[in-house]
Amino acid sequence: MPDSPRTPGERPAGARAFDALTAERGILFGGDYNPEQWPRDTWREDVELMQRAGVNVVTVGVFSWAMLEPTPGAREFGWLDEVLDLLHAGGISVDLATPTASPPPWLGVRHPETLPVDPDGVRLVAGSRNQFAPASRVYREAALAITRDLAERYRDHPAVRMWHVGNEFGQLDYGDEAARAFRDWLSARYGTIEALNEAWATAFWSQRYADFDEILPPRRAPYLINPTQSLDFRRYTSDELRACYLELRDAIRDTGAHQPITTNFMGPFHHADYWSWADEVDVISDDQYPDPADPDAPADIAFAQDLMRGLGGGAPWVLMEQAISAVQWRGHNLPKTPARARLDSLQAVARGADGISFFQWRQSRAGAERFHSGMLPHAGADTEVFAGVCRQGADLQRLRPVVGSRVAARTALLFDWSSWWAADEPARPTTRLTTLEQVQRWYRSLWRRNVPVDVVAHGADLTGYDLVVVPHSYVLEPPAAAALIAAAEHGAQVVIGPFSGVADVNGHILQGRSPVQLRGLVGASGEEWAGLPDAGAAVDLAGLTVAGAATAGILAEKLRSDGAEVLASFADGDLAGRPVVTRNAAGAGSAWYVGAVLGDDLLDAVLAEALAAAGVDGIRPEPSAEAATAAVEAVRRGDALFLLNRGDTPAQVRVPGEWVDLLTDETTDNLVTIAPWDARVLMERHHS
Ligand code: GAL
Repeated sequence: MPDSPRTPGERPAGARAFDALTAERGILFGGDYNPEQWPRDTWREDVELMQRAGVNVVTVGVFSWAMLEPTPGAREFGWLDEVLDLLHAGGISVDLATPTASPPPWLGVRHPETLPVDPDGVRLVAGSRNQFAPASRVYREAALAITRDLAERYRDHPAVRMWHVGNEFGQLDYGDEAARAFRDWLSARYGTIEALNEAWATAFWSQRYADFDEILPPRRAPYLINPTQSLDFRRYTSDELRACYLELRDAIRDTGAHQPITTNFMGPFHHADYWSWADEVDVISDDQYPDPADPDAPADIAFAQDLMRGLGGGAPWVLMEQAISAVQWRGHNLPKTPARARLDSLQAVARGADGISFFQWRQSRAGAERFHSGMLPHAGADTEVFAGVCRQGADLQRLRPVVGSRVAARTALLFDWSSWWAADEPARPTTRLTTLEQVQRWYRSLWRRNVPVDVVAHGADLTGYDLVVVPHSYVLEPPAAAALIAAAEHGAQVVIGPFSGVADVNGHILQGRSPVQLRGLVGASGEEWAGLPDAGAAVDLAGLTVAGAATAGILAEKLRSDGAEVLASFADGDLAGRPVVTRNAAGAGSAWYVGAVLGDDLLDAVLAEALAAAGVDGIRPEPSAEAATAAVEAVRRGDALFLLNRGDTPAQVRVPGEWVDLLTDETTDNLVTIAPWDARVLMERHHS
């Protein structure tokens, strides 16, 4: 297994503080708690019901700025003192949030420059939330001031065991302060305007700049924007948001606060390159809202969870927000059954979470989230929802033995934000190929086989993996390409997906037969990427078995083998006879090259073959009389084996050895049954 960048022994102090918290309290369980929306007499009831449910930590204060600072410079901490004391007396710990995600209306009224501006030049106003311009100096000062005072006041409060900076950093701003900050960022990146002109290829369309002062964010323009300008603006935006986070985090630390500090990520969120944020949080935390109506949601959430584990170098993370039942922000919102909600939480624990938390504790009775579910619904505690919450609390207490343990994987999947941004810029061969969708399609195929996957950054050392998949890495910088070559040399099966290794760090197209840097590795090369007709194309197979249709569609490369074995080729159309999938012996391993967007069945066959060649497989349910494919997700975390059945029929899994189910204390051996919409968490019994 590759060494994790943070092996348990050498975790930084903030991460160790998180480990100490979970060692003391077990898996964290709770939700966002917004007592400011309620009269005081509900607070006591809240604490009692939290205790009943087994809640041990709540996030407080996320949207409390206007309550804490009702007029400029005022401080109203009394109510928060009371809330924290009450929670502490009830044995509930607090993840205390800086209220900085939503400034009070007075800030924008007095200082319009703190408000974000959209690409059309429209200034957004208060009345919703998140109305701040990340680059605004006045906003930053105001956010710092309230954060300092909050941290000074509560750093030693015994309830406060964690800090939560802002909320879901993701604001976009194209205003004048953003323009200034973007120029500073560019000047730091490029040094001279000549270097910028080179990187942005401004010889095109008369875009040459004489001075950094002429540069603007990619606001609305008559036609297509320079793609490198756009790419750099995305990089800048992620960095500016990160700077906001860092400033507030450091302000908390500077008061002497010793608790772990985090901010909640949003899975594969487009506007923040979390690889560059990950080392700055003491524990990775994430918000996940699978749509119960979407059959792919469990797989796509598993991807987000594996990404979170990857961001933390394998360390435990926190599921900071999820819904216990329905959300209110989709067009049509299906609730989760309590059984589904329970499996969603257990899935996160299986994939490395040591904290399970919800948005929110008590369902709002008013405001834009009045129809968003809460752990304590409008109907109160005498509900199936609340009974489900209590059951989850009890389950999680039983899972204490998994705290701190890790998931091991022999398969790596590459995922990178800059490449995603560059690939998804407009004006490309097809908009039907998008990075996230391709990554998710490849991941789902591995997930259906219960293959453990580490999601890794471009350039990470891959030499410990047996299988490395690159679903769609449009930009592969030289270190990332070198890591793929090294992985194959060390014996890995390396599978490279379509339209990968096409562009450089600036999004400029590499010159030569593609994939330019990896031609030697893949033993094949192409001269042109072209859209395929809507009907797609049939594929002939040589050395692959496909259960279903062998097709390709969307985009394909005019490819030739330069020595690689051809496993599949086009059966008809303009590309008839040309390779679609190739395999090349490379070092002790092989490199597979996929020169088209494959249909689901063919993609599945390629990955199955590569898994077999790598000797990697996942735990699979026994063939079942009742269901053609039993829907069991199986994940090994440390000594525990999580088996989650999202199917309507019982499923069975062969588990050699003797096991005890942590959820029920039942012992089991060899063949275990998982009831429909139920879970088993088996711990191997070691006989001494
Ligand atoms: C999140 C947000 C929460 C809440 C939730 C509703 O994006 O952080 O405050 O609004 O969505 O699903």
